[in-house]
Order: sequence, then structure tokens, then C-alpha cells
Amino acid sequence: FKLKMFVDELPDMPRVRGFDLLNGVPISKSLVIGMFQKKWKFHRDLPPTRVFAYGTSKSTATVPGPTIEALHGINTNVTWQNHLPSRHILPWDPTIPTAMPRTKKGVPTVVHLHGGIDEPESDGNSNSWFTARFKERGPTWSKKTYRYHNVQHPGNLWYHDHAMGLTRVNLLAGLIGSYIVRHPDVEAPLGLPFGDEFDRPLIVFDRSFRTDGSIYMNSTGNNPSIHPQWQPEYFGDAIIVNGKAWPRKTVRRRKYRFRILNASNARFFRFFFTNGLTFIHVASDSAYLARPVTIKKLLLAPSEIADVIVDFSTSASDEAILANDAAYPFPSGDPVNEVNGKIMKFVIKGQQEVDTGRVPSRLIRYPAPDVSSSALTRYVAMYEYTSNIDEPTHLYLNGKAYEEPATETPKTGTTEVWNVINLTEDNHPLHIHLGMFVALEQRELVNVDEFLQCMLKLNDAIKCQVSKYARGRRIAVPAHEGGWKNVFKMRPGCMTKILVRFSFIHSNASYPFDASVEPGYVYHCHDCRSRNIIS
Ligand code: C2O
Repeated sequence: FKLKMFVDELPDMPRVRGFDLLNGVPISKSLVIGMFQKKWKFHRDLPPTRVFAYGTSKSTATVPGPTIEALHGINTNVTWQNHLPSRHILPWDPTIPTAMPRTKKGVPTVVHLHGGIDEPESDGNSNSWFTARFKERGPTWSKKTYRYHNVQHPGNLWYHDHAMGLTRVNLLAGLIGSYIVRHPDVEAPLGLPFGDEFDRPLIVFDRSFRTDGSIYMNSTGNNPSIHPQWQPEYFGDAIIVNGKAWPRKTVRRRKYRFRILNASNARFFRFFFTNGLTFIHVASDSAYLARPVTIKKLLLAPSEIADVIVDFSTSASDEAILANDAAYPFPSGDPVNEVNGKIMKFVIKGQQEVDTGRVPSRLIRYPAPDVSSSALTRYVAMYEYTSNIDEPTHLYLNGKAYEEPATETPKTGTTEVWNVINLTEDNHPLHIHLGMFVALEQRELVNVDEFLQCMLKLNDAIKCQVSKYARGRRIAVPAHEGGWKNVFKMRPGCMTKILVRFSFIHSNASYPFDASVEPGYVYHCHDCRSRNIIS
């Protein structure tokens, strides 16, 4: 069935301040945010959809959840409360390790602040889940109130569910929200478009619906004899922005700042404007760029964030459609169609106006990565084990399952080089908790099959003589992706070299939290299930 595009107005999610003011001076704040089952209207003509939504109360809960605005250096404490019923609204997969079978007393959830540099107890480890009223708790659960220090650079984070084996269905159900760390002293002088009207998160994801409005998810596995319900990837046909399918937004002839988050489970977006408008890239997830970079096409992997300025005063037409041409899976899959190739429409109204927002030629320059300071070089390889019918059975990092003991144990305050080898057919966004990193280079692999065969046997890049294979074409890191990030797209058939810093990038201050404390931190692809622990 077909839904009419561009009929709903783009919502702005409710904004929740992560700090209080005492005589005008910011102080820390304690928030209570719940997860509720409720109905949500994704489209004018679609019956309300049952969702899981974050909110300060059930009536104000939204999909995505409220945007939390935190201040650099001021603690935001959040008590995340689970008010979900005992049954999930989506089919979940009992053939993989999951929090669910341990309990009949509710849907397990746990919140991860993605991009946050926080103590391990507040990091939302997959095994720190809890059910309604904290009745049932995962093995590494330790506290009800999470503390976010917000000591990092101003940047774009998001929060989402992270429960063991249920993350993907909990996200699909709606447990997603954006979180901004602001640092007015360093940001205000930049003069970028500012304020709720001109500085907005755009949270984009794909979903499929049945005609009754419910979220559709195929629960028949690709490889039923091994995993009766395992679908390694989810792709929906409707494109949702800030909780509405293909919305529209009326804008003025001036600059806007959009913090665009791809909150899909597996879909990449390559955004472009049909009328040639450009994106001026000023920051990514973890930090500002040193200089703005103007691009026409913006490729975002799941969980990646781009912080861009769009100047509608340069538009030749009165309408601009934000479109997408990324194949799914990316890049080896199907091309987009009329439906999932459209994102939203901007209607540009009024006269040219005096624009108070500007884009300075210099933004914020953080210390350049210093490879010589690297304490260690690691190799991390991602590859799939396939069955005889060529369907993936496991996606592992270095051939290890999530449950196996921690393999990477970086020291706090140090920097490491990681060579990430992607032996799958598709691009996978690598996300490292706690560590911020810079991509240095990507190099194509030669004789990939031979290398893969060796890795499947030995699970060890050095023993498989990685240098024999990592000598193909060099692919430069695009300028707009050259800054400090917490997610980077790992090209298939390539080795990507990243420099990871396990502390703050702007100072030599060592990390204030003990990274070796249970439950530690994880790194993983954001579109698949393979995970490994950093302790
Ligand atoms: Cu976006 Cu481990 O998370």
C-alpha cells in the first residue's frame, strides 16, 4: 500500500535540558526518563502504531525520544525507568543469546549514550539490562541512575537501547533519541545558526508498516535450519524523519543547522538535494571539523551523525527534496526505489532575509592525531561464517563471539592504532565505546579470498600475513570525515587504519574512569550483531 509523501509537518522532538540554572549559573540536573508503550502516528493516513517511546512521562513520550541538551562540564544524571509491558511488540529471536528468556517479567532494556565518555557502570552494557521497576536485572547491572559527565567536546551524541540480543527490536520499536553536548564558550564565537528554530536534529530511519499501522518485521530467518528467526539486517520501505514518514518542513531563505542522525538498523543513506543545494559539513559525531567542507552527497551509515549547514538562500527553486540513493545493503545491495529514495521535502518561503547565522572559515582545530604516540597496534577483522547454502551464520570480530573473554585491554589515557579489516561484502560502521578516533587511511586488500580462508582458520591477521594482502589501492579519507569520530564506515575488502584515543582529544588529562572495571566497554559494528568487549 502507498502513503502520500510530504503531508505531515516535520516535528521537533521535545527538548529536555540536562542542567539547571541557579542564579543564572548552570548546575547539574537529575532527570527521570521513562520507556513507555504507547501509540504513535507516523503518518496522517496510517492508523496509530504501537511503539516503545522515551519520555519524561507517558503522555509526552515521543518517537524518537526527547532531545537532551547537556552543557559541557555539567553533569546530567538520568534515571532511566522501564515501564514496558511483559510482551514485546516485535518478534525477537530466541536462537541468539538474549536477555529475554531469563525473565517473563517484562521487556529488558538498557540505555547507552552513544558517543559518551562515561564510567562503565553508566555506559549501558548489554548485560546491564533491567525490566519494569528493575524487577529483573542483567548480570552486570549495578545502578538505577546513570551519570553523564559531559566533559567531552561539544558534539552530537544519541541514546538508544543496548540490551543483549534485543537491541535491534528495541530500536525498531522506537527507543532512540538525540543528545547534544554544548559548550557555549567555544561554540558561540563560531556564529553558526543558533536556537531551536534554526538548529535542529533530523533523526532518520526506515520502517515498514502493515495497513493496520503496526510495524512490520519479517521474522523468518534467512537460514531457518540454524537460526529460525535470524534476519541479519532490517530494511523498511518508509523513511521516517523525527517520527513522521516523509515529512515536509517550511523554511525561510537563510541558513539552518541540521544534526542528521542515521538511526536505522542497517540502511545507509546517501543524502542529496534534488535541486542541487549543498551540505556544509561543520562537525560529525564526536567533534567539530577544523574547517567546513562543502559536499553535494552525504553518505551516512547507521549510527553516524553529520552536523551540516544548509543555506536555503542559495536555492534556485522554492522546493527542495532531500533524497537518498544508497543501495541496501550498502554498497552491494538493491538500488533505491521511488519510495525509499525520498526522505523529506523543504518548502522555501519568503524573501531573502538578513541572516544572523554564518559559517566561519575556521571552526575548531583539535590536536592532529599523532601516530608516533601510539602505544600499540591491533588488528580487528570482521568476517562472516556462512552455511553451505551461503547464508551467514555468525558475524564475528576476530572470530570471537561476544560472550568470549575480553580481548582488547587498552590503558586509559593512551592512543592505539587499529587496523580494521572488513572481509564482508558490505560496508559496516564500526563504533567504539569510550574511544574517539581518527581514520588515517583505507587500503584495498588483494587476494581477499585467500586471506579470508586463512582468517577463517586462524583468526589472526598477523599469522595470516596481513601485510601480503593489505597493499592494494589507497583510498583517501574524505575531508569531511577526517575529524575525530566515534563511528567510521569500514569499506568492504579494505583495511582501515584508525588512531584511537582512550581519553580526551583536547588535553593530556588522563581518563577519569577506570576502564578495566566491570562491565567494561564494547566495540561493535552498528548494523550487525558481532561484538567484542574492551575491558
Ligand atoms: Cu550506538 Cu554500542 O552503540
